[in-house]
Amino acid sequence: MELEVNGARHTVSHPDEPLLWALHDELGLNGVHYGCGAGICGCCTVLADGQPLRSCQVSARDAAGRSLTTLEGLAALTGATGDELHPVQQAFLENPLQCGWCLPGHVMTAVGLLSRTPDPSPEQIAAEAGRNLCRCGGYTAVRENVARAAQIAQEGS
Ligand code: FES
Ligand code: FES
Repeated sequence: MELEVNGARHTVSHPDEPLLWALHDELGLNGVHYGCGAGICGCCTVLADGQPLRSCQVSARDAAGRSLTTLEGLAALTGATGDELHPVQQAFLENPLQCGWCLPGHVMTAVGLLSRTPDPSPEQIAAEAGRNLCRCGGYTAVRENVARAAQIAQEGS
């Protein structure tokens, strides 16, 4: 079965396994992290047609036909061809988290928020950032980074 991931088509062999494992184990995309496996932590979040999807909660088969993006393909969404980063990546690089295990999920969730709401209020940022868990307690940095990413995106547009 084929999946469209980061702009390319890939064959996966275990379509009824969670999408998380197809991306991480079969395609080697280490930017997809495993946390709880139960749809709670958000570590495994990828984008499906531009919006966050918890990849532990759907099978690869269920994701077929959707345009999937992982952390590895994020910069290309901005049209970058070289070393440029997505504004959300830039913001998290400027103000890093602690262990970073939750980072891909926070980044992908923020990209989804900013695509729907380019200039989010602090309340909107807090609500969306709170959907993903951070065992290191980095929520203040996450909120700051989402606000900074919105600023970077607006400066660049
Ligand atoms: S690993 Fe998918 S939500 Fe936690
Ligand atoms: S920075 Fe460690 S889990 Fe979030």
